[in-house]
Amino acid sequence: MSADALLGVYDRDLVLVRGKGSWLFDAEGKRYLDFAAGVGVNGLGYGDPAVTRAIRKQSRRLVHASNLYLSPPVQELAARLAAAAFPSKVFFTNSGTEAVEGAIKFARKVGREAGRTELIAFERSFHGRTMGALSLTWTAKYREPFEPLVPGVSFLPWEDLAAAERAIGPRTAAVFIEPVQGEGGVRPVSPAFLRALHELCRQRGVLLVCEEVQCGLGRTGRLFAYEHAGITPDILTLAKPLGGGLPLGAVLLRADLAGALAPGDHGSTFGGNPVAAAASLAVLDRLLAKGFVAKVAAKGEWLTAELLALKQRHPRAIADVRGVGLMIGVEFHGPAGDVVKGLRADGILATKAGDKVLRLLPPLVVRKKEIRRFLASLEGLLVRGAGQPPGPVPVEERFSAESAEVAKMS
Ligand SMILES: Cc1ncc(COP(=O)(O)O)c(C=O)c1O
Repeated sequence: MSADALLGVYDRDLVLVRGKGSWLFDAEGKRYLDFAAGVGVNGLGYGDPAVTRAIRKQSRRLVHASNLYLSPPVQELAARLAAAAFPSKVFFTNSGTEAVEGAIKFARKVGREAGRTELIAFERSFHGRTMGALSLTWTAKYREPFEPLVPGVSFLPWEDLAAAERAIGPRTAAVFIEPVQGEGGVRPVSPAFLRALHELCRQRGVLLVCEEVQCGLGRTGRLFAYEHAGITPDILTLAKPLGGGLPLGAVLLRADLAGALAPGDHGSTFGGNPVAAAASLAVLDRLLAKGFVAKVAAKGEWLTAELLALKQRHPRAIADVRGVGLMIGVEFHGPAGDVVKGLRADGILATKAGDKVLRLLPPLVVRKKEIRRFLASLEGLLVRGAGQPPGPVPVEERFSAESAEVAKMS
């Protein structure tokens, strides 16, 4: 079957038909170890029995009735999210970008009487593709073709407190920050900066929005990434893994601000679908189970340490390794695209974040032997010269890196 009927906004050719655990299978039965996890969606991997059971059960009861009515899984999910995060009221969406749209509207409505309409985001941010979220997204190639965007948005340099002090003023409604920038190159914010930003926003009466569509819900080894800084935001956005693979996002608004929103102020026909909510309750059960996120943190620390060792052995290829939990970026001196291609040829799927960063988002349930398989494959590619800037490389240098570690893993 050809992909010609699909609008060409993605460059893709792989046809996937099935998944199990951390593995995907193409139409010919070839299997791939998935270090992209549906761009961070499949936290529990593929075919998780509890998620599948919840979907089956709820789909027999009720698939959709709209937000004109209440539904038990949706009510329960809102209560459980607020209990896990902070005292808040929850609005459900179908996607990350819609969660950001909601956050923008709620921040504007809260700040309206005080004349606070302006928004602040950070350089290299990514918040989504709809017009409001796009206006908060820094990368020119995403923005420029669709200008003019929403006015009143400014961008701050990453971790520059003095710049934040100058920019946050009496017309600012909210500051949006990804505690770990994903698309922007997998850049974790330092806990000290997030704490200082939180305090600055508090002093100036400005809302702090933690945008955790990608880094939230266990990905960083804590349930929410803001926990690493010991703060709680005023607004939290969630999506990707929330629905266990079904489209579901959420905006949590501090409970004491929720009175600013009245019936009719915002809405969505599909947002908070009962089936997605039932799946999400099964996801939450797993994420909140004793030891689950601690295990994610431990696996992430081990993978990061192994990647740092790889960097030592291949300094000509790897420029930096950074991340938190199982959200890790490997920055190369050369193009990351070659590495992504090489991994795929070797049966491993991963994505890029920008031109030079390999973004690793394996399922949170990835096994140690699967991580070993990935590391061996990556080192094999590096030995063959992937990730290096174009130009001649002395032969003896290229092959001296074959290490005892590779022999041990393969
Ligand atoms: C931090 C962040 N915000 C928002 C979005 C947009 O989410 P969606 O593609 O579900 O609209 C993404 C998607 O990658 C993201 O990483």
